[in-house]
Amino acid sequence: MAGSTISAGRKADRKAGTPLPATYVTASGLPRHHPVSQALHWVTAALALAVLPLAWVAVSLPPDPAKGSLFVLHKSVGLTILAIVVLRIVWRMIRPAPPDPLVPRLLTLIGRVNHWLLYAIFLIMPISGYLLSALSGRSTPYFWLFTIPGLTKDDGAQKIAESIHLVGQWFVYALVLLHIAGTAWHLVIRRDGLLERMLPVQDGRGSR
Ligand code: HEM
Ligand code: HEM
Repeated sequence: MAGSTISAGRKADRKAGTPLPATYVTASGLPRHHPVSQALHWVTAALALAVLPLAWVAVSLPPDPAKGSLFVLHKSVGLTILAIVVLRIVWRMIRPAPPDPLVPRLLTLIGRVNHWLLYAIFLIMPISGYLLSALSGRSTPYFWLFTIPGLTKDDGAQKIAESIHLVGQWFVYALVLLHIAGTAWHLVIRRDGLLERMLPVQDGRGSR
């Protein structure tokens, strides 16, 4: 099984046209994501895992200055995710992801759809979050550094943005869980080195 994955990685390298430098290939022969893509991925992952508990705690607190501060953090982390996801999409156009690892075709499709839906939902959530705040006429603080102005109050549109944000959270949970389950499947069952595609070179010598 591992042999077929290794040859798939090498075949994929040849298909891409240019041979990849050794540091771009994992121990099992899979091409890695670019270091910038890796860094942006893990920053998004960390911020995504922070933005959720901030929201859960903020909405559950009674009106209190702490509630306000948690909302400032929730909104600011959410807007940071928006900026990074936009950057990731632009960067992905410049440096496309490496060819897919060899898995049954249906699983490749599920993986791809999962990735694109993750990009989509992590655009929809911050935009709907901003709109649900801004359409009630409020400005949005960014880490107590500056504020982004609100919009003209519009209760109807505000309710729509709020519904999208509240329903959207379930897509976030489902997509992130599927994504992590898929990674765990590669790591534990298939053991094909897929996680390493998203990690820096692990030969203990640093990247060169
Ligand atoms: C990736 C980005 C984001 C995610 C994943 C996210 C997720 C969530 C979640 C899970 C809730 C709790 C819903 C509940 O159980 O009641 C929530 C609430 C909220 N979020 Fe976000 N959020 C994001 C970005 C933002 C941004 C950028 C803003 C504003 C600038 C924002 C404003 C709000 C507000 C005001 C609420 C309270 C809504 C209500 O209780 O009616 N969010 N968000
Ligand atoms: C601890 C949690 C996470 C783990 C273990 C993980 C793991 C991975 C791995 C191994 C890949 C590479 C897949 C491949 O090369 O085929 C990947 C890609 C990706 N991950 Fe995650 N991830 C995590 C969290 C997240 C989160 C929270 C997001 C939300 C935005 C995310 C979005 C993506 C996207 C969009 C890709 C595809 C990259 C591309 O091809 O453009 N990941 N992840």
